[in-house]
Amino acid sequence: MAFSFISFPLFSSSLFLAALIFTLLRRTRKKHTFQLPPGNTGLPLIGESLRMITAYRSGNPEPFVDDRLCRHGGRLFTTHLFGELTVFSADPEFNQLVLAGEGRTFESSYPSSISTLLGRRSLVLMKGSLHKRMHSLTLTRFASAGVIRSSLLPGIDHLIRLNLRSWGESVRLLDQAKKIAFELTVEQLMSEKPGEWTDYLSRHYNALTDGFFSVPLPSFLCLNAYGRAIKARKKVAESLMELVKSRKERKMREIVCKTETRKKDMVDELLEAEEGFTEEEMVDFLLALLVSGHETTPAMMTLVVKFLTDNPSALDLVKEEQVGIRERKKGVQEALEWSDYKTMPFTQCVINETLRVGNIISGVFRRTVADVHYKGYKIPKGCKVFASFRAVHLDENYFEDARTFNPWRWLGNTSKDSGKLSAGAPTFTPFGGGQRLCPGYELGRVEVSVFLHYLVTCFSWEVAEKDKLVFFPTTRMLKGYPIHVQRHRSL
Ligand code: HEM
Repeated sequence: MAFSFISFPLFSSSLFLAALIFTLLRRTRKKHTFQLPPGNTGLPLIGESLRMITAYRSGNPEPFVDDRLCRHGGRLFTTHLFGELTVFSADPEFNQLVLAGEGRTFESSYPSSISTLLGRRSLVLMKGSLHKRMHSLTLTRFASAGVIRSSLLPGIDHLIRLNLRSWGESVRLLDQAKKIAFELTVEQLMSEKPGEWTDYLSRHYNALTDGFFSVPLPSFLCLNAYGRAIKARKKVAESLMELVKSRKERKMREIVCKTETRKKDMVDELLEAEEGFTEEEMVDFLLALLVSGHETTPAMMTLVVKFLTDNPSALDLVKEEQVGIRERKKGVQEALEWSDYKTMPFTQCVINETLRVGNIISGVFRRTVADVHYKGYKIPKGCKVFASFRAVHLDENYFEDARTFNPWRWLGNTSKDSGKLSAGAPTFTPFGGGQRLCPGYELGRVEVSVFLHYLVTCFSWEVAEKDKLVFFPTTRMLKGYPIHVQRHRSL
């Protein structure tokens, strides 16, 4: 979730509107306690939500945070967002406490409208030991460097080329990136090739994810995006259920006839899991994993192209690097390999810098599950907290000339890129950290790298329509970044 403000790939104005409605009805506004960081809770009920949304829609949200940090001093302030008193953190040390304290002092917290769309057994909603086990399964069996290298990369290469081959003279980049990312995830999770079934699923997925950013009116009304999303979820779940059932039957046959020779995918892992998941639980899990990559990787593909277009000298270097890789291959058709991915240092700098400046996930919401003491403040149990990655990524204290896109800053400094928590407080956390560290962090990077390779070695492009980067409800180019493309080389 991601208003750009959101965490896992979901965020939303729905949070805001739903919160407003429910808060008006329930009048549950919390009282200040003196140990909270300083702040201003804004207008009654609405709090500072409208101010914040206006800032994040403007394309320049920084003054919203800068003004408050400057006014109150320190790196934490208290505000009132989406119907709740919220401690906003622009402090990498505090963000580390939040990420590392998952399950002990903090837990992720989503409104029920989002839980309904995702399903109870989605990874983002799982807690405790089941979450640990399934997070690790997702990472090691679906998205680790080892799996990507040994089995996913050829498929990624093939599918990206297939898509780019079909491009006409003009494309809306975000739409194309969404199509690519969706087809890739379906193939990786369920071994299903693009075709009628994936097109059908993809249509309903678009309706489903639109629901994350809309007002959750009662679903039976089906009048707005939320109602349509609930309907779409039903369709997606039905299709996934058919797939799970047929895979279960096939597995039984293979076991009986001892003919199981296929490469395992996520469906196999779920069918074999020691927890003995029900079919409904497997459907929830798969459905939500597909959502995770649906908003993030496509936004990343679009932003990286936007930043390169705006910075021709960086684009020239990426081209040089990628053309060099292509020239070392035996022919134009030879697929990229892991060793190629590992020898594109400047491209990785561009990806890091796009993650830092673009902030596809602006931060994560959590709720304290115990009183938290920090630098003289006491944040009570049950309080909402927003750990802002964006505020740290764009802070001069941690990055020189922080608000300028400068991929060269990463040269010789790639150790910071994993998003993993280390001894010091990390200042670069585009993929979160701790127990909920994004399991797709390497996969997302590889997909963007392969996409860039074919884009810069085979095409040139120019912007077709003036567009604008916005950060609410998600980080994206407002018009989807329409471009005119010209192909110079076959794929
Ligand atoms: C550039 C791309 C991506 C970015 C910036 C990104 C960012 C993030 C962040 C910040 C979180 C942490 C949320 C939290 O702590 O609450 C997260 C979680 C997650 N991401 Fe990603 N992500 C990306 C791509 C992907 C991909 C490709 C997948 C896989 C299909 C994926 C799957 C997930 C899942 C399942 C979670 C939830 C983990 C949990 O709660 O245990 N992400 N992502």
